[in-house]
Amino acid sequence: MVNNNILYIAIVLLCSIFTFSSSQSVFTTPGLIDQNDFGVSHLVLFEGLKLHVRTYENPNITSGYTLLFDSGLPYFSSSWGSVLLNLIPKMTDLKIKNAIFFDRYGYGYSDLSPYGIDSFDFARRLRASLNILNFQPPYVITGWSWGGINLQSYYLAYPSDVIGLLSIDGTDKEFYNDPWWIANMGSTMDTFKSYIKNNTENHDGFVLACQEGRIGPNFGYYTNSVKLPKIALKNNQDIYPDSSNKYLNAATQELGTMFQSSLKVLNAVNRLQETEEYPYKNTPFVVITAAASGQAWMARQNDMAKLSSNSKHIIDYTSSHHIPTDNPVEVVNALTDLISKIENPEPLNSSGSISFYPNRLAMSILVSLASALLVLI
Ligand SMILES: *[C@@H]1O[C@H](CO)[C@@H](O)[C@H](O)[C@H]1NC(C)=O
Ligand SMILES: *[C@@H]1O[C@H](CO)[C@@H](O)[C@H](O)[C@H]1NC(C)=O
Ligand SMILES: *[C@@H]1O[C@H](CO)[C@@H](O)[C@H](O)[C@H]1NC(C)=O
Repeated sequence: MVNNNILYIAIVLLCSIFTFSSSQSVFTTPGLIDQNDFGVSHLVLFEGLKLHVRTYENPNITSGYTLLFDSGLPYFSSSWGSVLLNLIPKMTDLKIKNAIFFDRYGYGYSDLSPYGIDSFDFARRLRASLNILNFQPPYVITGWSWGGINLQSYYLAYPSDVIGLLSIDGTDKEFYNDPWWIANMGSTMDTFKSYIKNNTENHDGFVLACQEGRIGPNFGYYTNSVKLPKIALKNNQDIYPDSSNKYLNAATQELGTMFQSSLKVLNAVNRLQETEEYPYKNTPFVVITAAASGQAWMARQNDMAKLSSNSKHIIDYTSSHHIPTDNPVEVVNALTDLISKIENPEPLNSSGSISFYPNRLAMSILVSLASALLVLI
């Protein structure tokens, strides 16, 4: 019996060592910027799937903020090349120790999952993967487009891990009720399925279609006109039409989880709103919206910005939805605003009931009343 138990414990220990540490690999490519790219890429194995995480550690400071960047759907870490290029010269002033980019499962250099992973399960896996790499919270999370659902899912699941949120034309909880998506989810998936068919039957023809700009502007392939460092652009162009269809399958799979993910965010926020005026409390929250995305979207973005009592809403009148490549300087400026909010915290506004914080007069009246009472007694 004793021997069996020891054997069992030994096996469990061995398995955990294999699962959690020995199978991660580290390499320096693929870069995101053309010169002096000091990033390190990791393939982190967690529950059977490898996640590609690329980390940029600032060597000039010993501690500071850890920033996470999540792309829109169906894009991956290469989307952040121009933002990173503009961020590096500011890292020290902004006290940024780590800038971390990753590819959701199936995109970029990450394993394709056998089934769709929703935004909450992704948050759990991301958190565990970063823990394995020893990049510990707190995090400042930036999400572009669908990354907006991911960052809110992460915050809702692990609020104490998060000290700041930046949503870049990010998806809000009302995606679940979005009439365009309700009408067009099927045809969007069909488009990806037709790409998979073309790529399988005629790979060279599909690559040519990509190069000639025949892929829809929001379908994941960057043409040469997109403002990105050459290496990041090349990564995107090489990986997208991969003949294994890994990327295109990831996109189809992720589309299949979008309603489920946004419904979970919708329900979680609605539940909090029953008792809290600000479901995200006083968590620093910066929201950038592309005016080009339309009025209904703008109204929803306004509502999203109101989820925290400590938010800033920036309207971008010049960019398309693709703000990380159209206007990377604005993203770095928004991060500067966000970090300044983190460093100058606002008091927690008590929701629903009368707040005593702001009203010094009410406070002093109360104090005088109390002293008067004491005198009377
Ligand atoms: C660190 O300092 C060196 C030397 O001043 C500089 O070249 C480099 O850009 C700095 N890196 C960061 C991330 O601040
Ligand atoms: C896919 O194949 C069809 C039929 O050959 C063709 O008409 C279409 O242009 C192709 N599209 C892409 C993006 O490859
Ligand atoms: C929260 O309280 C602070 C100061 O007490 C105040 O300046 C701020 O406007 C309040 N925010 C909201 C959204 O009510």
